[in-house]
Amino acid sequence: MNKGTVAWESPSNIALIKYWGKKGRQIPRNPSVSMTLKNAVSKTWLSYSERNKEWLTFEFEGKNVPAFAKRIEKFLEGISEDLPFINDYTFHIKSENTFPHSTGIASSASAMSALAMCLCSMEEQVTGKKLEANEFMRKASYIARLGSGSASRSIYNSYATWGESVAFSKASNDYATPFSKYIHPIFKDYQDFILIVSGEKKKVSSTAGHALMNDHPFAQARYEQANANFERMLGILRSGDLESFIEVLENEALSLHGLMMNSNPSFTLLRPNTLQAIELIRDFRESTKIPLGFTLDAGPNIHLMFPKNEKEQVTNFVEAELKSLLEGGRYLKDETGSGPKLLTIAN
Ligand code: PMV
Repeated sequence: MNKGTVAWESPSNIALIKYWGKKGRQIPRNPSVSMTLKNAVSKTWLSYSERNKEWLTFEFEGKNVPAFAKRIEKFLEGISEDLPFINDYTFHIKSENTFPHSTGIASSASAMSALAMCLCSMEEQVTGKKLEANEFMRKASYIARLGSGSASRSIYNSYATWGESVAFSKASNDYATPFSKYIHPIFKDYQDFILIVSGEKKKVSSTAGHALMNDHPFAQARYEQANANFERMLGILRSGDLESFIEVLENEALSLHGLMMNSNPSFTLLRPNTLQAIELIRDFRESTKIPLGFTLDAGPNIHLMFPKNEKEQVTNFVEAELKSLLEGGRYLKDETGSGPKLLTIAN
C-alpha cells in the first residue's frame, strides 16, 4: 500500500509513582505507575504517501508550530531503525487536544501515544503483516516510550506500570505493562479533578528535568524511595487501602518537587496558591474523613484524586474553598479512562 490515512485518539495519564530521571535510550531510572485519564485526549491523523522531497508536515490544532514539528521530526528519525518503512514515506500529521495547554495534563503522553498507535497501524497497512492484539499494544508502547517516557503508559486503559522492578516481574524498561486486571474495584472509576493554579508555560521541560537527576545529590535515595513506593502502590491498588494510597500519592508528588527545588539549577514550580490549596485539602480530609488526596505533575497545578462516590462532596468543597485560588476559577473533571481508540483507517 503506498498511501493511506490512519487516526487514533489516545489519553494522557497521571503518574501515581513518578518517573524522574532516565538513562540511555529513554530508560527510566525507577519504575512508575499511572492512572490513564478519560477526557484529556489527543487526536492524531497521519496521512502517508510515497516519499518525496518534503517528507514531513505537522499541524497542531490547525497551525504550524515549528517547535512541535522539530520534535516530531527528531522522533521519526530516531525510530527509523525500529520502523524501517518510515524512510520510504512522506508524512502529513495533524494533531489536536481536547484539553487546554499548560494545565498540568501531560500532553506529550497523549500526543506521543496517539502518534505511536498511528505508526503501528500504518506499519500493518504498508507491510500487510498483522500483529496479535497484545503484541501490537506492546510495540506501540515501546514506540511511544521513545517519544516520551510517560507516553508508554497511555497505551493501556485504567492503570499501567513502566520500568523494571522486583515487585512486578511482568514490568519492563522497554514498554509499559497493563495493571488493570489486578486493581481493587474502588480504583476502577477513580476521579481526578485538575485544579488550574496557573496556566503559564512550564519553566522546566521534562528533558531538562530528567537531566537534573544525573548528578543530583539525592539521586540514589530517590531511586530507593521510588522503588519502595512503587512496591507499596502496587499492593495498595490491589487492596484498595485508601489511607495508604493517599500517603504514598502525596509523598511522591512532594518528593518530585523537593528534588526540583534542591537540584542545581533549582526550580520552584509550586505557587503560593498550590501550597494554600494543599493545606485546605489536608484540613478537609482531616475534618470530613473523606479520602481526598492530591498529586502534582512537573508544574503548579493540583490533581485531586478520590473515589467516585465522593464526587458531589468534593465538587462542593472545590467550589466553596478552592475555586478562588485557581486561575479564572478553572478546574477540569477527569477520571479513569479506557485507553486509545482507533478513529480511521483507510487506503
Ligand atoms: O514522559 P516525560 O519525559 O514527559 O516525563 C514525565 C515526568 C513526570 O510527568 C513528572 C512523571 C511521570 O511519570 O509521568
